[in-house]
Amino acid sequence: MLKALPFFTHDLKLLLSFMKIRTCVLVIIFLFAKCTAFSQEVTLIKIATKNNVLLLGVDEKTNLKQLYFGKNIPVGNYESLWSHSELNYSTYGNSAAEVALRVTHADGNMTTDLGYKKNTVTRINDNITLTTILLIDRFYPLEVTLTYKSYFNEDIIEQSMELVHNEKGLVTLYNFASANLSFKSSKYFLTYYSGDWAHEFNMIETALPEGTKTIDSKLGVRTNQRTNPSFLLSLGDKMQEDNGEVIGGTLAWPGNFQLLFEVDHTNKLSALAGMNPYASQYALPANTIFKAPSFLYTYSAVGSGEITRRFHRWARKYGIADGDGSRDILLNNWEATYFDFDEQKLTNIIREAGSMGFELFLLDDGWFGNKYPRNNDDAGLGDWQVNTKKLPHGIPYLVEQCKANNIKFGLWVEPEMVNPKSELYEKHPDWVITAPNRPLDPQRNQLILDLSNPAVQDFVYDFLDKLVKENPGISYLKWDCNRYITNAGSSYLGKDKQSHLFIEYPRAILKLMKKFRKKYPAITMMVCSGGGGRMDYGSMPYFQEYWPSDNTDALDRITIQWGLNYFFPAIGMASHVSVTPNHITGRSTPLKFRFDVAMTGKLGMDLQPQQMTGEEKIFSKTAIQTYKDLRDIVLQGDLYRLLSPYSTNRVAQMFVSEDQKRSLVFNYLLKKNIYADKTILKLKGLKPDALYTITEINKTNFSRMGAYEGKTFSGEYLMTAGLQFDMYNEYESNVLLLTTP
Ligand code: DGJ
Repeated sequence: MLKALPFFTHDLKLLLSFMKIRTCVLVIIFLFAKCTAFSQEVTLIKIATKNNVLLLGVDEKTNLKQLYFGKNIPVGNYESLWSHSELNYSTYGNSAAEVALRVTHADGNMTTDLGYKKNTVTRINDNITLTTILLIDRFYPLEVTLTYKSYFNEDIIEQSMELVHNEKGLVTLYNFASANLSFKSSKYFLTYYSGDWAHEFNMIETALPEGTKTIDSKLGVRTNQRTNPSFLLSLGDKMQEDNGEVIGGTLAWPGNFQLLFEVDHTNKLSALAGMNPYASQYALPANTIFKAPSFLYTYSAVGSGEITRRFHRWARKYGIADGDGSRDILLNNWEATYFDFDEQKLTNIIREAGSMGFELFLLDDGWFGNKYPRNNDDAGLGDWQVNTKKLPHGIPYLVEQCKANNIKFGLWVEPEMVNPKSELYEKHPDWVITAPNRPLDPQRNQLILDLSNPAVQDFVYDFLDKLVKENPGISYLKWDCNRYITNAGSSYLGKDKQSHLFIEYPRAILKLMKKFRKKYPAITMMVCSGGGGRMDYGSMPYFQEYWPSDNTDALDRITIQWGLNYFFPAIGMASHVSVTPNHITGRSTPLKFRFDVAMTGKLGMDLQPQQMTGEEKIFSKTAIQTYKDLRDIVLQGDLYRLLSPYSTNRVAQMFVSEDQKRSLVFNYLLKKNIYADKTILKLKGLKPDALYTITEINKTNFSRMGAYEGKTFSGEYLMTAGLQFDMYNEYESNVLLLTTP
């Protein structure tokens, strides 16, 4: 409406020279009436959750605009929002900035000009509403559908994009973001992740001045090894836990991703989220749907803590397999034996595991390969037949051993990979990802199977299917993935589609995961990628658990888990007690400290119980039982961060059950403080008027809880006056249980 005014003025001058004033007044009244009429007719599309609203509008030129995204307030006079509205899904040709969509049409035209056509709103159930918006190029037969699924109670919006055309020839897609959001604030602070193997999920906060900042992965596979497709954007000030405006977003996609933030000369921020366009131009035939992955986001007016709780609640309901269930306590043989095991060794471990109260035994890497036995990481990958030398009675024997000890049995697989030293590679050298005329480039002595090839997809599915069918006692699978793509090339895709690999591979892996999950819904699966290299909400719906890091050092895990917990919930977070000194860091920490850290997630152990002292076994057994009694608080509770490892040497966090009747408070001191750390611990998330009794759990013969043990305090007292107890020693920890009658 406002953009029509220049025409208005111009026309007015012309009119004045030809008409009498009276006539002009009449014309002015007529035009004004038309403008008013227009403003009443504009299309407004409201995508709302309990606390958020994304308000889109269609202007007089049929451009789709973002009018508002933020707190769900009754938007009264939306007229005022038009003046600073922004194009909602920008295209090359209409913008001089980074764009959501750039394609080359079949005739070579590089611009796209989308006009709004229609929208639909479907109430899927009491909680979920689906809004679709159809945009059509004003000249070419090319359609873009934006979809918005809003999860009312969890305050999450899931946005995606689909493109289809009917041009005479291929349309090549160069940029294909899932979402494009705009923000206006005095300052912007972006928090994102950095890392590497055994060092995942380090949080970095940076101011966003004018210019462009990109967070992306170009690894193709294991794409989250160095960063994650998740971010937090704080408006106005640095991010705070319980105050301030924060937007949290994450892309549900295991492939290359790009999160791009561009602050322009007017200090407006445009954020794009989607598959990474890097080396990925995609030639799309007519009448074929190109689907972008989902981007999930939420806005909080009360800091990042609320962002976390929303994502966790959403994930438990929609984002992770069996998110409303429980989890088994697992003993993994990886750090206990690595590749060096036989039936006898495993049988002993299983017996010990049963007697200590474990619920599941996981046999890790090294159980397969005969011509090329998997005795280390340089051979056998791809040859998924049981190694008859190590396990002469096969998997069924181990399953029997587990049954006899009242625990379940799980197995490790790495379906997408192959060692050059394997029968599979001998038979199908053309099945690996590699560029022609380049030497093979193994990482960890392995190559990646080319999943863009349907024959390879079938091979992977069939071997998993056969493994589970022939061994009905397998109740758990750990799906590993230990390298990323270099020398990208596919002998299947052909010379015109080489740049499709980074898109077809993740599509294929998701298809496989989905197919397998559908056929075997009862199997528990852990997603692992040499640690947290595949942690995204594209994969997560097919898995109950994720392995955040190969680094099991409790001290390092505090920071790793702290970081990933912003988006991913404790119910999936496999957190294992391992031996000391730790195999990766060489650090020694007390067993209690290791348990107190591991119990903030899905508890497990990665050690040889036979090597534990009697005292250690007793402590572990008791802690395992305690975890069983209280695990629902961690697995299903709300997480509140109290003291961050990024600001102090004292770290604390707590989980509060949904009914706010029980809570577990975890405290750690990371460095010795000879004067005592006296930080007051103000609790959160409790019912102010409820009375909570404090009990310390995982106790050794020594406690600092004298003033609190067995005593009762109101929620208000605990959240206002807080708890104060001194902590002195490096790796000292304590866990408090709060219960109401
Ligand atoms: C990497 C995983 O992260 C480890 O836990 C273990 O499964 C090894 N792979 C086995 O090769």
